Amino acid sequence: MLHRILGTTGPQVSALGLGCMGMSALYGDADRAESVATIHAALDAGVTLLDTGDFYGMGHNEMLIGEALRTAPAAHREKALTSVKFGALRDPDGNWSGYDGRPAAVKNFAAYSLQRLGVDHIDVYRIARVDPDVPIEETVGAIAELVEAGHVRHIGLSEVGADTIRRAAAVAPVTDVQIEYSLISRGIEDRILPACRELGIGVTAYGVLSRGLISGHFTRDRQLAANDFRGHSPRFQGENLQRNLDLVDALRKVADERGATVAQTAIAWVLSRGEDIVPLVGARRRDRLAEALGALDVTLGAADLAAIEEAVPAGAAAGDRYPAEQMAHLDSEH
Ligand SMILES: NC(=O)c1ccc[n+]([C@@H]2O[C@H](COP(=O)([O-])OP(=O)(O)OC[C@H]3O[C@@H](n4cnc5c(N)ncnc54)[C@H](OP(=O)(O)O)[C@@H]3O)[C@@H](O)[C@H]2O)c1
Repeated sequence: MLHRILGTTGPQVSALGLGCMGMSALYGDADRAESVATIHAALDAGVTLLDTGDFYGMGHNEMLIGEALRTAPAAHREKALTSVKFGALRDPDGNWSGYDGRPAAVKNFAAYSLQRLGVDHIDVYRIARVDPDVPIEETVGAIAELVEAGHVRHIGLSEVGADTIRRAAAVAPVTDVQIEYSLISRGIEDRILPACRELGIGVTAYGVLSRGLISGHFTRDRQLAANDFRGHSPRFQGENLQRNLDLVDALRKVADERGATVAQTAIAWVLSRGEDIVPLVGARRRDRLAEALGALDVTLGAADLAAIEEAVPAGAAAGDRYPAEQMAHLDSEH
Protein backbone atom coordinates (compact mmCIF):
# COMPACT_ATOMS: atom_id res chain seq x y z
CA MET A 1 0.00 0.00 0.00
CA LEU A 2 1.19 3.47 -0.87
CA HIS A 3 0.94 6.09 1.85
CA ARG A 4 0.46 9.83 2.05
CA ILE A 5 0.69 12.27 4.93
CA LEU A 6 -2.37 14.37 5.75
CA GLY A 7 -1.09 17.92 5.91
CA THR A 8 2.08 18.94 7.71
CA THR A 9 0.68 18.01 11.13
CA GLY A 10 -1.40 14.98 10.32
CA PRO A 11 -0.93 11.23 10.35
CA GLN A 12 0.40 9.00 7.60
CA VAL A 13 -2.54 7.26 5.93
CA SER A 14 -3.05 4.86 3.05
CA ALA A 15 -3.11 6.70 -0.28
CA LEU A 16 -6.75 5.64 -0.67
CA GLY A 17 -9.24 5.88 2.16
CA LEU A 18 -12.50 3.97 2.45
CA GLY A 19 -15.63 6.14 2.71
CA CYS A 20 -18.26 4.10 4.51
CA MET A 21 -21.33 6.35 4.06
CA GLY A 22 -23.01 4.25 1.36
CA MET A 23 -22.96 1.24 3.69
CA SER A 24 -25.61 2.92 5.84
CA ALA A 25 -27.25 5.72 3.96
CA LEU A 26 -27.90 7.83 0.91
CA TYR A 27 -27.34 5.31 -1.91
CA GLY A 28 -30.27 2.98 -1.25
CA ASP A 29 -30.08 -0.24 0.75
CA ALA A 30 -26.73 -1.88 1.49
CA ASP A 31 -25.91 -5.42 2.62
CA ARG A 32 -24.57 -5.41 6.20
CA ALA A 33 -22.47 -8.59 5.95
CA GLU A 34 -20.96 -7.43 2.65
CA SER A 35 -20.28 -3.99 4.16
CA VAL A 36 -18.34 -5.51 7.07
CA ALA A 37 -16.53 -7.84 4.65
CA THR A 38 -15.60 -4.81 2.52
CA ILE A 39 -14.14 -2.97 5.52
CA HIS A 40 -12.18 -6.11 6.44
CA ALA A 41 -10.95 -6.49 2.86
CA ALA A 42 -9.84 -2.84 2.87
CA LEU A 43 -7.92 -3.27 6.13
CA ASP A 44 -6.37 -6.51 4.75
CA ALA A 45 -5.20 -4.60 1.69
CA GLY A 46 -3.53 -1.98 3.87
CA VAL A 47 -6.21 0.75 3.79
CA THR A 48 -5.88 2.57 7.10
CA LEU A 49 -8.29 5.49 6.76
CA LEU A 50 -12.01 4.85 7.40
CA ASP A 51 -14.32 7.81 6.91
CA THR A 52 -17.76 8.15 8.45
CA GLY A 53 -20.26 10.61 9.91
CA ASP A 54 -22.35 10.18 13.05
CA PHE A 55 -25.43 11.09 11.00
CA TYR A 56 -24.88 8.39 8.31
CA GLY A 57 -27.84 6.19 9.13
CA MET A 58 -28.08 8.05 12.46
CA GLY A 59 -25.34 6.09 14.22
CA HIS A 60 -25.67 3.00 12.02
CA ASN A 61 -22.44 3.66 10.11
CA GLU A 62 -20.36 4.13 13.24
CA MET A 63 -21.77 0.97 14.80
CA LEU A 64 -21.02 -0.89 11.57
CA ILE A 65 -17.42 0.32 11.61
CA GLY A 66 -17.26 -0.53 15.33
CA GLU A 67 -18.34 -4.10 14.53
CA ALA A 68 -15.84 -4.38 11.67
CA LEU A 69 -13.01 -3.12 13.90
CA ARG A 70 -13.95 -5.46 16.75
CA THR A 71 -13.94 -8.48 14.45
CA ALA A 72 -10.80 -7.56 12.48
CA PRO A 73 -7.38 -9.03 13.33
CA ALA A 74 -5.74 -6.96 16.07
CA ALA A 75 -2.85 -5.92 13.79
CA HIS A 76 -5.28 -4.38 11.29
CA ARG A 77 -7.46 -2.81 13.96
CA GLU A 78 -4.47 -1.07 15.51
CA LYS A 79 -3.51 0.55 12.21
CA ALA A 80 -7.03 1.77 11.39
CA LEU A 81 -7.66 5.52 11.65
CA THR A 82 -11.17 6.90 12.01
CA SER A 83 -12.23 10.14 10.35
CA VAL A 84 -15.59 11.26 11.73
CA LYS A 85 -17.96 14.06 10.78
CA PHE A 86 -20.54 15.45 13.18
CA GLY A 87 -22.98 18.32 13.43
CA ALA A 88 -25.71 17.41 10.93
CA LEU A 89 -29.03 17.18 12.74
CA ARG A 90 -31.71 14.62 11.88
CA ASP A 91 -35.21 13.86 13.14
CA PRO A 92 -36.68 10.40 13.84
CA ASP A 93 -37.95 10.20 10.25
CA GLY A 94 -34.44 10.85 8.95
CA ASN A 95 -35.16 14.41 7.80
CA TRP A 96 -32.27 16.88 7.93
CA SER A 97 -32.81 19.77 10.31
CA GLY A 98 -29.70 21.94 10.30
CA TYR A 99 -26.25 21.93 11.89
CA ASP A 100 -24.97 22.30 15.42
CA GLY A 101 -21.39 23.46 16.02
CA ARG A 102 -21.78 24.78 19.56
CA PRO A 103 -18.88 23.66 21.79
CA ALA A 104 -21.10 21.70 24.20
CA ALA A 105 -22.76 19.95 21.26
CA VAL A 106 -19.36 19.09 19.74
CA LYS A 107 -18.32 17.31 22.94
CA ASN A 108 -21.69 15.57 23.20
CA PHE A 109 -21.43 14.31 19.59
CA ALA A 110 -17.88 13.07 20.27
CA ALA A 111 -18.90 11.18 23.40
CA TYR A 112 -21.55 9.26 21.47
CA SER A 113 -19.25 8.58 18.52
CA LEU A 114 -16.51 7.14 20.72
CA GLN A 115 -19.10 4.82 22.25
CA ARG A 116 -20.59 3.70 18.93
CA LEU A 117 -17.20 3.15 17.30
CA GLY A 118 -15.87 1.37 20.39
CA VAL A 119 -12.59 3.29 20.27
CA ASP A 120 -10.77 5.39 22.87
CA HIS A 121 -10.05 8.23 20.46
CA ILE A 122 -11.14 9.56 17.07
CA ASP A 123 -8.25 10.20 14.69
CA VAL A 124 -9.68 13.12 12.70
CA TYR A 125 -12.81 14.97 13.81
CA ARG A 126 -14.66 17.60 11.80
CA ILE A 127 -17.99 19.37 11.52
CA ALA A 128 -19.75 18.26 8.31
CA ARG A 129 -21.01 21.75 7.41
CA VAL A 130 -20.28 25.06 9.09
CA ASP A 131 -22.99 26.00 11.58
CA PRO A 132 -24.05 29.47 10.37
CA ASP A 133 -24.91 30.49 13.95
CA VAL A 134 -21.58 29.52 15.53
CA PRO A 135 -18.24 31.07 14.55
CA ILE A 136 -15.90 28.37 13.19
CA GLU A 137 -13.36 29.46 15.82
CA GLU A 138 -15.69 28.19 18.58
CA THR A 139 -16.36 24.86 16.90
CA VAL A 140 -12.69 24.25 16.13
CA GLY A 141 -11.76 25.46 19.62
CA ALA A 142 -13.99 22.76 21.08
CA ILE A 143 -12.31 20.08 18.95
CA ALA A 144 -8.93 21.45 20.06
CA GLU A 145 -10.04 20.87 23.67
CA LEU A 146 -10.95 17.29 22.74
CA VAL A 147 -7.45 16.91 21.28
CA GLU A 148 -5.98 18.29 24.47
CA ALA A 149 -7.97 15.77 26.51
CA GLY A 150 -6.85 12.85 24.29
CA HIS A 151 -10.29 12.02 22.84
CA VAL A 152 -9.38 13.26 19.35
CA ARG A 153 -6.00 13.23 17.61
CA HIS A 154 -6.45 15.72 14.73
CA ILE A 155 -8.76 18.50 13.58
CA GLY A 156 -10.34 18.40 10.12
CA LEU A 157 -12.76 20.55 8.17
CA SER A 158 -15.41 19.69 5.60
CA GLU A 159 -16.78 21.61 2.60
CA VAL A 160 -15.33 24.94 3.70
CA GLY A 161 -14.11 27.89 1.68
CA ALA A 162 -10.66 29.49 1.84
CA ASP A 163 -11.65 32.19 4.35
CA THR A 164 -13.03 29.64 6.80
CA ILE A 165 -9.93 27.49 6.37
CA ARG A 166 -7.75 30.46 7.33
CA ARG A 167 -9.90 31.32 10.36
CA ALA A 168 -9.90 27.71 11.58
CA ALA A 169 -6.15 27.27 11.06
CA ALA A 170 -5.53 30.39 13.16
CA VAL A 171 -7.13 28.61 16.14
CA ALA A 172 -5.34 25.25 15.98
CA PRO A 173 -3.49 23.05 13.49
CA VAL A 174 -5.84 21.65 10.83
CA THR A 175 -4.94 18.31 9.28
CA ASP A 176 -7.18 18.12 6.23
CA VAL A 177 -10.15 19.57 4.44
CA GLN A 178 -12.60 16.95 3.26
CA ILE A 179 -14.27 18.14 0.10
CA GLU A 180 -15.67 16.91 -3.19
CA TYR A 181 -13.04 16.70 -5.90
CA SER A 182 -13.17 14.75 -9.13
CA LEU A 183 -12.80 15.12 -12.86
CA ILE A 184 -16.24 16.70 -12.91
CA SER A 185 -16.04 18.67 -9.62
CA ARG A 186 -12.98 20.86 -9.84
CA GLY A 187 -14.21 23.87 -7.88
CA ILE A 188 -11.48 23.59 -5.22
CA GLU A 189 -8.70 24.36 -7.68
CA ASP A 190 -9.16 28.15 -7.72
CA ARG A 191 -8.95 29.17 -4.07
CA ILE A 192 -9.45 26.24 -1.68
CA LEU A 193 -6.59 23.98 -2.78
CA PRO A 194 -4.09 26.87 -2.93
CA ALA A 195 -5.13 27.95 0.59
CA CYS A 196 -4.66 24.38 1.86
CA ARG A 197 -1.24 24.20 0.24
CA GLU A 198 -0.18 27.54 1.66
CA LEU A 199 -1.20 26.44 5.17
CA GLY A 200 0.12 22.85 4.99
CA ILE A 201 -3.34 21.30 5.11
CA GLY A 202 -4.12 18.07 3.25
CA VAL A 203 -7.24 17.24 1.27
CA THR A 204 -9.35 14.12 1.64
CA ALA A 205 -11.29 14.08 -1.61
CA TYR A 206 -14.74 12.58 -1.67
CA GLY A 207 -17.03 11.90 -4.61
CA VAL A 208 -14.01 11.01 -6.75
CA LEU A 209 -16.43 8.87 -8.76
CA SER A 210 -19.09 11.56 -8.43
CA ARG A 211 -21.20 9.13 -6.38
CA GLY A 212 -20.94 6.45 -9.04
CA LEU A 213 -21.83 8.75 -11.96
CA ILE A 214 -18.33 8.57 -13.44
CA SER A 215 -17.55 5.04 -12.21
CA GLY A 216 -18.31 3.44 -15.56
CA HIS A 217 -21.00 1.32 -13.91
CA PHE A 218 -23.84 3.84 -13.86
CA THR A 219 -26.28 3.17 -16.68
CA ARG A 220 -28.69 5.52 -18.43
CA ASP A 221 -31.72 3.48 -17.37
CA ARG A 222 -30.71 2.78 -13.74
CA GLN A 223 -33.68 2.87 -11.35
CA LEU A 224 -32.87 4.46 -8.00
CA ALA A 225 -34.55 3.67 -4.67
CA ALA A 226 -36.64 6.43 -3.09
CA ASN A 227 -34.02 6.94 -0.35
CA ASP A 228 -31.16 7.36 -2.84
CA PHE A 229 -29.56 10.84 -2.81
CA ARG A 230 -28.89 10.51 -6.52
CA GLY A 231 -32.63 10.55 -7.21
CA HIS A 232 -32.56 14.27 -6.24
CA SER A 233 -29.06 15.19 -7.32
CA PRO A 234 -29.03 17.57 -10.32
CA ARG A 235 -26.27 15.69 -12.13
CA PHE A 236 -28.37 12.51 -12.25
CA GLN A 237 -31.50 14.10 -13.73
CA GLY A 238 -32.80 13.84 -17.31
CA GLU A 239 -30.74 15.71 -19.86
CA ASN A 240 -27.95 16.36 -17.32
CA LEU A 241 -27.53 12.62 -16.79
CA GLN A 242 -27.34 11.98 -20.51
CA ARG A 243 -24.70 14.68 -21.01
CA ASN A 244 -22.67 13.50 -18.03
CA LEU A 245 -22.74 9.90 -19.22
CA ASP A 246 -21.53 11.13 -22.64
CA LEU A 247 -18.44 12.39 -20.80
CA VAL A 248 -18.07 8.94 -19.23
CA ASP A 249 -18.24 7.34 -22.69
CA ALA A 250 -15.36 9.59 -23.78
CA LEU A 251 -13.42 8.72 -20.63
CA ARG A 252 -14.02 5.00 -21.25
CA LYS A 253 -12.18 5.24 -24.57
CA VAL A 254 -9.14 6.74 -22.83
CA ALA A 255 -9.33 4.15 -20.04
CA ASP A 256 -9.70 1.22 -22.45
CA GLU A 257 -6.62 2.32 -24.41
CA ARG A 258 -4.63 2.23 -21.18
CA GLY A 259 -5.97 -1.10 -19.94
CA ALA A 260 -7.66 0.48 -16.93
CA THR A 261 -11.32 0.74 -15.99
CA VAL A 262 -13.20 4.03 -15.99
CA ALA A 263 -13.32 4.07 -12.17
CA GLN A 264 -9.60 3.39 -11.90
CA THR A 265 -8.84 6.17 -14.35
CA ALA A 266 -11.02 8.65 -12.46
CA ILE A 267 -9.44 7.72 -9.12
CA ALA A 268 -5.91 7.75 -10.58
CA TRP A 269 -6.56 11.25 -11.95
CA VAL A 270 -7.37 12.52 -8.43
CA LEU A 271 -4.29 10.72 -7.06
CA SER A 272 -2.20 12.47 -9.73
CA ARG A 273 -3.28 15.94 -8.57
CA GLY A 274 -0.85 16.02 -5.65
CA GLU A 275 0.75 14.01 -2.87
CA ASP A 276 -1.31 16.06 -0.43
CA ILE A 277 -4.61 14.64 -1.73
CA VAL A 278 -6.07 11.38 -0.44
CA PRO A 279 -9.11 10.10 -2.35
CA LEU A 280 -11.86 8.45 -0.29
CA VAL A 281 -13.58 5.78 -2.33
CA GLY A 282 -17.15 4.86 -1.49
CA ALA A 283 -16.91 1.12 -2.22
CA ARG A 284 -19.44 -0.92 -0.31
CA ARG A 285 -18.77 -4.25 -1.97
CA ARG A 286 -15.52 -6.20 -2.17
CA ASP A 287 -15.52 -6.27 -5.98
CA ARG A 288 -15.86 -2.49 -6.16
CA LEU A 289 -13.11 -2.09 -3.56
CA ALA A 290 -10.77 -4.35 -5.52
CA GLU A 291 -11.40 -2.28 -8.62
CA ALA A 292 -10.76 0.98 -6.75
CA LEU A 293 -7.51 -0.32 -5.25
CA GLY A 294 -6.36 -1.12 -8.80
CA ALA A 295 -6.14 2.64 -9.36
CA LEU A 296 -2.97 2.64 -7.26
CA ASP A 297 -1.27 0.71 -10.07
CA VAL A 298 -2.36 3.14 -12.79
CA THR A 299 0.39 5.63 -13.56
CA LEU A 300 -0.72 8.61 -15.60
CA GLY A 301 1.91 10.49 -17.58
CA ALA A 302 1.51 13.91 -19.20
CA ALA A 303 -0.02 12.45 -22.40
CA ASP A 304 -2.49 10.34 -20.40
CA LEU A 305 -3.54 13.33 -18.32
CA ALA A 306 -4.01 15.44 -21.45
CA ALA A 307 -6.17 12.72 -23.03
CA ILE A 308 -8.28 12.44 -19.87
CA GLU A 309 -8.81 16.20 -19.67
CA GLU A 310 -9.71 16.34 -23.34
CA ALA A 311 -12.34 13.65 -22.74
CA VAL A 312 -13.65 15.39 -19.62
CA PRO A 313 -12.76 19.09 -19.80
CA ALA A 314 -12.87 21.14 -16.58
CA GLY A 315 -16.34 22.53 -16.05
CA ALA A 316 -17.98 20.14 -18.51
CA ALA A 317 -20.38 18.54 -16.01
CA ALA A 318 -24.06 19.31 -16.43
CA GLY A 319 -25.82 20.26 -13.21
CA ASP A 320 -24.73 21.32 -9.72
CA ARG A 321 -23.19 18.77 -7.38
CA TYR A 322 -26.01 19.18 -4.80
CA PRO A 323 -29.67 20.23 -4.91
CA ALA A 324 -30.12 23.99 -4.40
CA GLU A 325 -31.09 23.85 -0.70
CA GLN A 326 -27.96 21.82 0.09
CA MET A 327 -25.74 24.03 -2.09
CA ALA A 328 -26.86 26.90 0.16
CA HIS A 329 -25.25 25.14 3.17
CA LEU A 330 -21.87 24.81 1.45
CA ASP A 331 -19.42 27.35 2.82
CA SER A 332 -17.11 26.11 0.03
CA GLU A 333 -19.47 27.48 -2.62
CA HIS A 334 -19.80 31.00 -1.24
N1 LIG B 1 -17.60 15.68 3.68
C1 LIG B 1 -18.67 15.51 2.97
O1 LIG B 1 -19.48 16.42 2.80
C2 LIG B 1 -18.93 14.19 2.32
C3 LIG B 1 -20.01 14.05 1.44
C4 LIG B 1 -20.22 12.82 0.83
C5 LIG B 1 -19.37 11.76 1.11
N2 LIG B 1 -18.34 11.90 2.00
C6 LIG B 1 -17.45 10.78 2.34
O2 LIG B 1 -16.76 10.38 1.18
C7 LIG B 1 -16.97 8.99 0.95
C8 LIG B 1 -16.94 8.72 -0.54
O3 LIG B 1 -18.01 9.45 -1.15
P1 LIG B 1 -18.97 8.79 -2.18
O4 LIG B 1 -19.41 7.48 -1.60
O5 LIG B 1 -20.00 9.74 -2.60
O6 LIG B 1 -17.97 8.60 -3.36
P2 LIG B 1 -17.77 7.86 -4.69
O7 LIG B 1 -16.64 6.93 -4.47
O8 LIG B 1 -17.67 8.94 -5.70
O9 LIG B 1 -19.08 7.07 -5.03
C9 LIG B 1 -19.42 5.84 -4.48
C10 LIG B 1 -20.43 5.21 -5.40
O10 LIG B 1 -19.74 4.82 -6.59
C11 LIG B 1 -20.12 3.54 -6.99
N3 LIG B 1 -18.96 2.78 -7.52
C12 LIG B 1 -18.92 2.16 -8.71
N4 LIG B 1 -17.72 1.58 -8.91
C13 LIG B 1 -17.00 1.81 -7.80
C14 LIG B 1 -15.71 1.43 -7.40
N5 LIG B 1 -14.91 0.70 -8.16
N6 LIG B 1 -15.27 1.82 -6.19
C15 LIG B 1 -16.06 2.56 -5.38
N7 LIG B 1 -17.32 2.95 -5.71
C16 LIG B 1 -17.79 2.57 -6.91
C17 LIG B 1 -20.61 2.85 -5.75
O11 LIG B 1 -21.49 2.00 -6.37
P3 LIG B 1 -22.49 0.86 -5.95
O12 LIG B 1 -23.83 1.47 -6.22
O13 LIG B 1 -22.11 -0.25 -6.83
O14 LIG B 1 -22.26 0.56 -4.51
C18 LIG B 1 -21.10 3.99 -4.85
O15 LIG B 1 -22.49 4.16 -5.05
C19 LIG B 1 -18.29 8.68 1.62
O16 LIG B 1 -18.42 7.31 1.89
C20 LIG B 1 -18.20 9.55 2.84
O17 LIG B 1 -17.43 8.88 3.84
C21 LIG B 1 -18.11 13.11 2.57
